[in-house]
Formats: sequence, C-alpha cells, structure tokens
Amino acid sequence: MQANDLLQLAEQFGSPLYVYDAEKIQSQYNRLTKAFSKVPNLRINYAMKALSNVAILQLLRDMGSGLDTVSIQEVLLGLHAGYSPEKIFYTPNGVSLEEIEEVHALGVQINIDNLSILEQFGAKHPHVPVCIRINPHVMAGGNANISVGHIDSKFGISVHQLPHLVRIVENTNMNIVGIHMHTGSDILDIEVFLYAAEILFDAAKNFKNLEFLDFGSGFKVPYKKDDIATDIDELGKKLSKRFNAFCTEYGKDLTLIFEPGKFLVSEAGFFLAKVNVVKQTTSTVFAGIDSGFNHLIRPMLYGSSHFIENISNPKGKERFYSVVGYICETDTFATNRRIAEIKEGDILSFRNAGAYCFSMSSNYNSRYKPAEVLWMNGQGYLIRAHEKFEDLLQNQIPLPVDVAATV
Ligand SMILES: Cc1ncc(COP(=O)(O)O)c(C=O)c1O
Repeated sequence: MQANDLLQLAEQFGSPLYVYDAEKIQSQYNRLTKAFSKVPNLRINYAMKALSNVAILQLLRDMGSGLDTVSIQEVLLGLHAGYSPEKIFYTPNGVSLEEIEEVHALGVQINIDNLSILEQFGAKHPHVPVCIRINPHVMAGGNANISVGHIDSKFGISVHQLPHLVRIVENTNMNIVGIHMHTGSDILDIEVFLYAAEILFDAAKNFKNLEFLDFGSGFKVPYKKDDIATDIDELGKKLSKRFNAFCTEYGKDLTLIFEPGKFLVSEAGFFLAKVNVVKQTTSTVFAGIDSGFNHLIRPMLYGSSHFIENISNPKGKERFYSVVGYICETDTFATNRRIAEIKEGDILSFRNAGAYCFSMSSNYNSRYKPAEVLWMNGQGYLIRAHEKFEDLLQNQIPLPVDVAATV
C-alpha cells in the first residue's frame, strides 16, 4: 500500500483508523505454505486473537486457512465467519471444564493444557479425540509477556510430567490425536525452535494414535527496514526435512500444523491517527495524536516499537518527536523519534498495526473504538464502523431512580 492510499482512506473514513492490506495477508500466507511445501500434510490455523474482524476471518478462510481460537467466543465468531467446526482448533489456557465441554459439543478440536482438566475431561468423555499442549521448557520469545514455554510459565503440561500424563490417558481411555507446543512470540533463532521441536518429537513417541503435531507459532516479523525476522524459508527447509523423517519413524504421515497470528497480519496493518497538538517543552517536542493506548496498547504493554511516518508530509525535513496519546496517564508511542516535520492536523501512520492492535483496544477514558478498513483490489472496504455514543451505553443499565435516591 502507498502512503497516498492511506491518506485518502483517512480523509474518506476519518481518524483514528485501522487499515489492513489484503494482498499482504495473502502473500504472507503463500510464503508460509511455500516454505513448507515439502510436507505432504500441512495445515495453517490462523491465531485469530491477533485480529478477529469477521471480514479478515473470511479472507483467511477463502485462502484455505483454519483457525486457532482461545475462547468459546472466538469459536463462535469463527463459525459465524463460515469456518466448519473441523477447521477450528481450540487452545485455551486456564478455562473451565464446562467451556471445554461446550466447545467440544460444537465439533471443534480441543487442546488441553493441564493435567487436572485432562483427567476430568478424560473420565467424562473417553475416546474423544484430544490434543495436548506440552510445555517443552524452552526459553523463547522477545519479551517476558510473550515467552510462554519456559519453566515458570503457566502454559502447557510440563514435558517432565509425561509419565503422569500417559497414566491419565491410559486410565481414562483417552484418544490423543495430537500434541502441541507454543514457546512464545518473536523467535529470533530457528535453532531454538528446532530444539523445541525435538522435544515434541520425543514426546510424540508416547502416543500411538497421533494424527498431527502442532508447532504453535512465534515467527518474528520485521518492524523496520533491515530488522531481524524469523527466516521462514530456512525454518521450512530444516523442519520439513526433520518432520518428514519423524513421520517415517512414526510409521504414519502426520499433519504439521502452525498457528501464526503476527506473521499473517502484523505487517498488513496500518494505524492512522491525526496530530491534535504539537507541544514544545523545555526538553522535547511532543506530537499529541487523536488516540492513545486505548487503541494501540502494544508500545506501553510490550515496549513494541512501531515505525511511524508522517504521511501528510512524507518528504519533509526530519525532526525529533515524542509521539504521545490523549489518555490521562503516561501514554507514549515513541520517544525521541526521527519523523518528517509534523504540523497539527497531519496524519501519522503506524506500521505493524495488524496484530494485537485493534483486538486489544478498549473504551478506556470512554473513547470510541476506531473504524477498520480492508484495502482490496485498490479499494477500501469499511469492515467496522467507528463507534458512536450509543455503543458506550449499550449493555449499561441505570439504577431505577427511586433506588439511586436511597444512597
Ligand atoms: C497458543 C498460541 N498460538 C499461537 C499464537 C500466535 O502467536 P504469534 O502471533 O506470535 O504468531 C499465540 C500467541 O499468543 C499463542 O498463545
């Protein structure tokens, strides 16, 4: 997408605005499937927590993707978007047995990540095809909040608990059809990934009825020019070879599954916001935008650094700015960042705004959530309207006047 297209969309739909480039999502999907083309049975389950707009789900469905979900509400959205239950995986963490049973009743593949629920589910539902999330205890991931496979992590069943796990499976006659791991996001070193994969292969030998191995995700995408990214082609070459060899050893062509979020949608997304005020202080120049961490929380939550361009003045002389939001707390998107000269009213474009941006947005400070637009075949399609005052009131129930008066 060109800066001009983005500027025109900001004029047409207003700001703040999320824009997603359909072509980029398609090309990322193709890159991944091509990298693993030597694996006879490959399946991509899009981790919809990254961006769950129904139009995006439909787009990925039409590319052939399945879905990775973490809540029954995500499952329902996936079904609503036209995915058949067999195309949906459910990988929750710390949810109730009741929710897992409800999802199972919808015909969706469940993935269990703790021994307590495994035992309870197995005792009530023997023979149901179940996947198990293993924690391989590998330290991966670019940030403490997204490193989920290490020894202190709450995710998965420790690989050291395999004997206990196998005993539960045998005692309850469970049918384990898959095993899964997800070590964290932003994996830089593919050797770490391959090391964790070996642990999964080893664990797999304990189960005789497997149909698939799910390697989770964690592919690092670039955030700026020359940034490091997971080398998908190299990973594809090495892991495909090892996976195919394992299938021969296991005596069956298993399906290899990935569940990427960021890799598919991060770079396809742009967040557009208007500069409300340029404020010079004794130490810095702030560009204050018509948004805040209520719309894009990743810089405050993870310290993520989104590349910011002034698309109203792309060729302007560069100066240093701190870009901040309007929330009544520290609300910083970027500090001391070199950006083409900013005037009040200019539109700033934040890159890598496809994954974990809108989906983490909130109404904090009683602000409306922004609209979302899908850019396809040279045209912008509104896929979520900007919120209105009625949206803030929806589901709120005022106290009856006579009760309120009794306080
Ligand atoms: C179990 C699981 N699978 C897949 C993903 C997607 O990861 P990413 O967006 O890094 O591809 C996550 C992210 O949190 C996850 O927890």
